[in-house]
Amino acid sequence: MLRTHTCGQLRPEHIGQTVTLCGWVESTRDHGGAVFIDLRDRYGITQVVVGPESGQANVDAAGRLSNESCIRVRGVVAARLEGKKNDKLATGEVELRSEEVELLNDCDSPPFVPTQQELPGEDLRLRYRYLDLRRPAMQRSLILRSQIIKEMRDYFAENDFIDVETPILGRSTPEGARDYLVPSRVHPGKFYALPQSPQLYKQILMVAGFDRYVQVAKCFRDEDLRADRQPEFTQLDMEMSFVDADDVIGMIDGLVARTAKNILGVDVPTPLPRMTYDEAMRRFGHDAPDLRFGMEIVDLTEIAKKTEFRVFRGAADSGGFVRGINVKNAAGDFSRKRIDELTEYVKHDFGAKGLAWFRVEPEGTLWSPISKNLEDAHLAEIATAMEAEPNDLLLILADSWNVTCKGLNGLRKRLGAELKLYEPGALHCSWVVEFPMFERDEEEGRFVAMHHPFTAPRPQDLERLASDPEACRAQAYDLVINGSEAGGGTIRIHDQEIQRQVFDLLGIDEETAKDRFGFLLDALRFGAPPHGGIALGIDRWVMLFAGLENIREVIAFPKTQRAYDNMTEAPGSVDDKQLKELALRSVSVKS
Ligand code: AMO
Ligand code: AMP
Repeated sequence: MLRTHTCGQLRPEHIGQTVTLCGWVESTRDHGGAVFIDLRDRYGITQVVVGPESGQANVDAAGRLSNESCIRVRGVVAARLEGKKNDKLATGEVELRSEEVELLNDCDSPPFVPTQQELPGEDLRLRYRYLDLRRPAMQRSLILRSQIIKEMRDYFAENDFIDVETPILGRSTPEGARDYLVPSRVHPGKFYALPQSPQLYKQILMVAGFDRYVQVAKCFRDEDLRADRQPEFTQLDMEMSFVDADDVIGMIDGLVARTAKNILGVDVPTPLPRMTYDEAMRRFGHDAPDLRFGMEIVDLTEIAKKTEFRVFRGAADSGGFVRGINVKNAAGDFSRKRIDELTEYVKHDFGAKGLAWFRVEPEGTLWSPISKNLEDAHLAEIATAMEAEPNDLLLILADSWNVTCKGLNGLRKRLGAELKLYEPGALHCSWVVEFPMFERDEEEGRFVAMHHPFTAPRPQDLERLASDPEACRAQAYDLVINGSEAGGGTIRIHDQEIQRQVFDLLGIDEETAKDRFGFLLDALRFGAPPHGGIALGIDRWVMLFAGLENIREVIAFPKTQRAYDNMTEAPGSVDDKQLKELALRSVSVKS
């Protein structure tokens, strides 16, 4: 070992000992004749003093050390002078009086200093990720990530789960995003697909009798990226045999409680609360509702039908909805300009046609530029329905179900954050259950699986598969943490006939089914046990446990929003020889 201790380790009990530390020069200060170095590693910072007793040459060399160079220091631990103690540092009572400083490696002038207050742009951070990862905040994120994964592995191992690795080079899987493809050299013109999840393999492991499977699995999805999505991300993937939805949910409840306790010291009472999909959409407009605060959606459609106001009446009479939220005690804080911004936001981001708003006056009546269009009695009904109190701000959308859901969810999330309606460290975990089996593709109008095509309908909804597929609910469950989908899973179909019916509804004919997942369908015919499982988004868990808003802050080497790796510059070009070996030719296609 080049060192005897870490930079976070020395305490008064070490005073008098000769020790050796290694680390990075965070800063140097020349105090006339003595150079003070803040020496940093991932464990902490220790103050090193290179004084005259170590010789002038050493003092001069220390003064020339560049920040972020890597050094090794041997010296004697000493108490800091009275008044010079630093209670912000764990090592702040002592310093290392250096006898010898060895430069292990110099540092070029860095494009940014990891400890600078103001962070540089993210592009630069990603380009020089090794410097960015020296920052204590990034080190905390990755350490937290490692702890969470360890909790997960320990928990599943203790519950008899077997860790099985599944292939990365495989066939297209059915999670519904675009695949990343890998051309085959041995089979010219053929492609592997990187797994969007290990879904099919884990089902096959159940057929193979493994009973309880778990894996920390890399997944790849070529989809539009957002703050909580990466093209390459990590799932805690699990599957169980001979279970129903309650069993899988119960297993994850235990994991949530254990992880929250061991990592954050927070008691999360279990069983976690559950809400059906329909209720979530009705009360919050979203299938992953943020339950850290209220501001629930109120339906005003019946009242709207009685009014003469064109905007409300028109929507209500044509099968649309009039729904709103009450932003408590906020009217005084919302200028017309701010309301105009919210109006632009719902129009631009969610295609709303406008935003109706009311201010609740001190005497409890509603005022708005549009209140003249509404009778007092109807205004009073709206006030009652929305539990309006003086100084509340009511925001109302008249539109299709979808637009009211999306718009009000957007407003709710935005205002919840802006008005700080929850504690920054709060962790709210819950389940959304009984998702629809199918949703309509917005462009083509055909059915697509809301989860994936192997999801089982609820037994009591079986006959609706034929009579009313849209009303058919699935044995599906999503774990929601602070308004983010932190996991999702289902009980699977293990009955051939039901599987065929579901494929039919999805427009997957027998030939296509055989071609795409024939191996799974085959396997299901060989004594497949009833089974189900779930996958948790590990990156999202870490992000939520750390209270961060961007998934890239918890991934060592993430891609940019444009799926680019700034550091390695991937994706990159390949030479003609490689293309030729793969029987590929590069042509530019005009889009
Ligand atoms: P699903 O597609 O819901 O289910 O994915 C499970 C969880 O993975 C996380 N997640 C992502 N995280 C970061 N970036 C992404 N692009 C991304 N996409 C998904 C989410 C999500 O809840 N095979 C099924 C699971 C099952 O049925 O057992 C599946 O993959 O937190
Ligand atoms: P207009 O007569 O279209 O200018 O609309 C009158 C008011 O109603 C404006 O404040 C609009 O923002 C609002 N408004 C218009 N359409 C809708 C809608 N679909 N839902 C809610 N408010 C709307």
